[in-house]
Amino acid sequence: MGAGHRVSERAARALPQSAFEQGLRRVSWRAARVFGSTPPTLTANPVTLRQPAEKDIPAITVGYNDPDTIRWFSVPEKWTHETARDYVDRLVPLWWAGGVEVVFAIADDLDSYAGSIDLSVRRDDPAVGEVGYFVLPDFRRRGYAVSAVRAISRWGFEVLGPQRIQLRWAAGNDVSGQVAARAGFATEGLMRQALMINGKRRDCWVASLLRDEVV
Ligand SMILES: CC(C)(COP(=O)(O)OP(=O)(O)OC[C@H]1O[C@@H](n2cnc3c(N)ncnc32)[C@H](O)[C@@H]1OP(=O)(O)O)[C@@H](O)C(=O)NCCC(=O)NCCS
Repeated sequence: MGAGHRVSERAARALPQSAFEQGLRRVSWRAARVFGSTPPTLTANPVTLRQPAEKDIPAITVGYNDPDTIRWFSVPEKWTHETARDYVDRLVPLWWAGGVEVVFAIADDLDSYAGSIDLSVRRDDPAVGEVGYFVLPDFRRRGYAVSAVRAISRWGFEVLGPQRIQLRWAAGNDVSGQVAARAGFATEGLMRQALMINGKRRDCWVASLLRDEVV
């Protein structure tokens, strides 16, 4: 590295940075480090969050064809075993490696696939994370969604370092609102036409958990 380069780098570092820019850089560095490593397994009593696997493909296909999941989670295309295989083998690892989002399978005490949960970091503001989830019909009402949301949020704050993690759910999906509340998220209000579900813009509620509320 030439001296000129070092000087200009030092000069760049000396430039005043807003708190927003500093926060952005800190979070981006942390995200780059995390997403460069192997995805973790998280204990989220009574479930475990782990990487989706080959053996989950039939259950993943069931999940993505469930009418409630299609309606509220948004599944714009018909999912087949091939779609699920591509998701397990290629897409989930690609999203992780690209620092786009982490996807976990929600697994029960027998390691059966019970649903999915993801945490993405907003491109325009990496200090904001967003969580999405669904649970297979046979596994609902056991507290799995709440436990998974709590665990992924805790991990997200500790490891990725955002200031805020948010949840958005389409108006009418009151069950998801209950999940948010039970996981400790504060509902902030209704955002008009702010969520795209199956190609249509929908009004949605937004709730958030802040870093100081967890760590
Ligand atoms: C929303 C969803 C993930 C909830 O999963 P879950 O594992 O059943 O949720 P939990 O068991 O953690 O339930 C948490 C709370 O939500 C409420 N709740 C859950 N299912 C409910 C139902 N069918 N009717 C009324 N309240 C319900 C209850 O208050 C429950 O707490 P309680 O059982 O202690 O009373 C699941 O119904 C689902 O996959 N729905 C379709 C996809 C979806 O809506 N995803 C979210 C998109 S934003």
